[in-house]
Amino acid sequence: MIVGSQLYKRYPGGFEALKNVSFEIAGGEMVLIGGHSGAGKTTLLKLLSAIERPTSGSLVVNGQNLVALRHAALPFLRRNLGLIFQDQKLLFDRSALDNVLLPLEIIGLSPKEAVRRARAALDKVGLLAREKANPIALSGGEQQRLAIARAVVNRPTILIADEPTANLDEASARQVIDLFIAFNQVRVTVIIATHALYGIPGKDVRVMTLDHGTLAS
Ligand SMILES: Nc1ncnc2c1ncn2[C@@H]1O[C@H](COP(=O)(O)OP(=O)(O)O)[C@@H](O)[C@H]1O
Ligand SMILES: [Mg+2]
Repeated sequence: MIVGSQLYKRYPGGFEALKNVSFEIAGGEMVLIGGHSGAGKTTLLKLLSAIERPTSGSLVVNGQNLVALRHAALPFLRRNLGLIFQDQKLLFDRSALDNVLLPLEIIGLSPKEAVRRARAALDKVGLLAREKANPIALSGGEQQRLAIARAVVNRPTILIADEPTANLDEASARQVIDLFIAFNQVRVTVIIATHALYGIPGKDVRVMTLDHGTLAS
């Protein structure tokens, strides 16, 4: 499903954030990308999401070569990806439900079907009772679960999350991780970057560790 081969990423300014990274991720896998701060975890997730392009190497996601991907093909790729990045903020001037509805607005569902799907996504993350709440009234863990609902509402085949448990207490982090495990159990491929592997069970989870831009394991 995902094949990265000899990937390099050099940022403008010359810093080489990824060096000769090769890996394969099969459909339905759950993979944790570990490594120190600055190791290249976020960069790798951005390559997988086509937010950044590799400087060299090849990267194929769902049969699409991201190195040669034409701009027009981006929406098609993204439809299969659920992204949870720190810079994708929730909208604090809309309700929880409206935040989850947003990604559905562009795919042309009837309003009724969109609301049905958005509420189903909120239910999955345990927030249906808070559908009318403004995200600012939600706890950190609830906000993160709302971001997950927004990411999964289009039923992506791959979920990509960058440090999804950062700034959460242990109980909230546990809930968030359990959600990812639940999506993985229904065959969604889950790729999570985290500098703290603590609390994540080893069973059925593969760990890839980056060290100064190279894959250490
Ligand atoms: N847009 C950018 N421009 C220049 N350097 C960057 C950029 N983004 C990240 N870097 C550098 O690339 C390295 C890896 O960053 P990142 O992928 O964010 O690591 P991690 O997520 O593991 O902490 C860091 O040294 C960081 O400073
Ligand atoms: Mg990072």
